[in-house]
Amino acid sequence: MDNYLTPEEKQYLLLLGWFRRHYALYLGLERERPATGESILQFGRAWFGNQLLDLASAFPGLKHKQLIREEGGAIEFTEAGASQFAELDASETFYRYEYDNFFSLSEKSEAHALFCERVYGKNLNQHGLSDTGELRQLLAFLDLPSGAYGLDLGCGNGLITDYLQRRSGARFLGVDISPEAIRRAEQIRNPHLAFRVSNMNALSFSEPFDFIVSVDTLYYAADLSATVRDCLSNLRPGGIFACFFSQWINAEGERPFLEGTHTGLAKVLRELEQPFEFQDISESGRKHWRLKRDVLLDMRPDFEAEGNLALWDYRFREANRYAQWPADFYARFIYRVDKPA
Ligand SMILES: C[S@@+](CC[C@H](N)C(=O)[O-])C[C@H]1O[C@@H](n2cnc3c(N)ncnc32)[C@H](O)[C@@H]1O
Repeated sequence: MDNYLTPEEKQYLLLLGWFRRHYALYLGLERERPATGESILQFGRAWFGNQLLDLASAFPGLKHKQLIREEGGAIEFTEAGASQFAELDASETFYRYEYDNFFSLSEKSEAHALFCERVYGKNLNQHGLSDTGELRQLLAFLDLPSGAYGLDLGCGNGLITDYLQRRSGARFLGVDISPEAIRRAEQIRNPHLAFRVSNMNALSFSEPFDFIVSVDTLYYAADLSATVRDCLSNLRPGGIFACFFSQWINAEGERPFLEGTHTGLAKVLRELEQPFEFQDISESGRKHWRLKRDVLLDMRPDFEAEGNLALWDYRFREANRYAQWPADFYARFIYRVDKPA
């Protein structure tokens, strides 16, 4: 159905759909603010940055197609628009534009490279939380035989995949929704790596993997249970699925969520009747957010001198939000799932 939408109209629907989600809070904005033409653009500039198209034609186009309407000065979805958004958010995804912007800016930024060295111990153009200590812990937990063939789901621009490959001797296929990230990944000179653009909401591979890893990516699944099921079905019998998973709760949230046996991911695995093991790395996660925020505060002038304040701002608003998160409302784990042989 979405083939009659222009690229501008697709972006407009994605922005409107995300306008009242937690991404508004990162910007210090109320979720309940009215969606006006200008406020949607402001939101789009903050999250899509250099990927934001000229949306001037999108508003009349979508109105004509009866996918949006204006009510009391605010733009809202019609029923058809809401279902069109849900479809688009799983296929095209909001994140693709966000991450295309991030990877296109960060790969050229010396300040960002230094920031990664200081926060993660090595510049692998990271976006998630895993520093080299956590990555080594993942590899020790996995204990991969050299030559095993695996998937890195949400590989970003491939530098983490390259790091994992060189330390394990395994072969990897890295996939990510961001074409910008994959373009950069394909330039890595390592014959044991291959990359392709792929959406974890619709995974399909021609051969099964010995293992699948996912570094801080499962949060972005449209349907976590479906993505985990797809991962397990793309493993050979006896294969391993392993991932990093952080869990946040707010004041109304239920404490047991923060136990490794009861996070959002653990719940999915239990529903799938899939036994699992985990390691608790909550303290490493808490330290990470504080360090990230502090390094960013220290390095603002470096980003500014490069003309990269938009990138600084993008990284800072997330780090600052989570550095302030109450320590006992947050937990972090590495999970390992062994598919029965
Ligand atoms: C927090 S970043 C983690 C990247 C990298 N693994 C790291 O730890 O730095 C999340 C990654 O998930 C990717 N992503 C988001 N939605 C996705 C989807 N539907 N399918 C595949 N990748 C997705 C993003 O493009 C981004 O590279």
